[in-house]
Amino acid sequence: MNQYAVVTADEAFQSRDGVIKLHGADGFAGMRAAGRLAAEILDELTKHVVPGVSTAEIDDIVREMTLKGGAVPATLGYRGYTHSCCTSINHVICHGIPSDKKLRDGDIVNVDVTPMLDGWHGDTSRMFLVGDVPVKARRLVDVTYECLMLGIEAAKPGNRIGDIGHAIQTHAEGHRYGVVREFCGHGLGRLFHDAPEIVHAGRPGTGPLLKPGMIFTIEPMINIGKPHGKVLEDGWTAVTRDRSLSAQFEHSIGITEDGCEIFTASPKGLHKPPY
Ligand code: MF3
Ligand code: CO
Ligand code: CO
Repeated sequence: MNQYAVVTADEAFQSRDGVIKLHGADGFAGMRAAGRLAAEILDELTKHVVPGVSTAEIDDIVREMTLKGGAVPATLGYRGYTHSCCTSINHVICHGIPSDKKLRDGDIVNVDVTPMLDGWHGDTSRMFLVGDVPVKARRLVDVTYECLMLGIEAAKPGNRIGDIGHAIQTHAEGHRYGVVREFCGHGLGRLFHDAPEIVHAGRPGTGPLLKPGMIFTIEPMINIGKPHGKVLEDGWTAVTRDRSLSAQFEHSIGITEDGCEIFTASPKGLHKPPY
């Protein structure tokens, strides 16, 4: 059985062991502001993600923009992570660590940012194409974006969490791609990672019921090859076992009376490449 709890902004920082929070207007307002800043940071990055730039330079831009926006990067110091974003290149599924490594022509890279503004977390990521990217990789990126948006369409009251995963899985597997199961979307708000878990594969009509006030991410990771991943020695970087390319997009959303609100939509309409 899943439990739900209506929470005020003051109560939303509490960890409640699997209880799904139902946020009010103040929570939605907080998430709207944090989500907008997160999206603006990704918008700004479109002109910086080019061949020859290092992922550490991208991390610097993310940190500076986050601080300038009056927020702090939620990943800084999170479980020992020491960077302001994740940069996941090619066969990296997620949690790639920024470094001196330079982006190369033909790479695809996900940048995932999470500014915490006035206590609320805006969590979003997009794929970027570096220079001239082969059609096979571009198709993966397009289909992964479609997966995210199909998941968002299924995110409405009356549906269940399994309906979101089902929409994503059906589309991805229709293209013979693999859906990563080891990492999930998650509730968020004043907590970075909260209940419920949003698995990106599932059966229709299963899982917790979606109710107005729920706030969570959808962040499908889709591989050209098999779904399986492994984490490297650094304890963070997750890669595909078969070294096939992997892509991801992420939005933070809130369930409303008749659907959902996307907190992290791009103000400039730069939702997916080419930007
Ligand atoms: N932003 C990631 C997410 O979507 C979490 C990154 S945690 C980090 O949940 F420590 F790896 F940065
Ligand atoms: Co997330
Ligand atoms: Co994220």
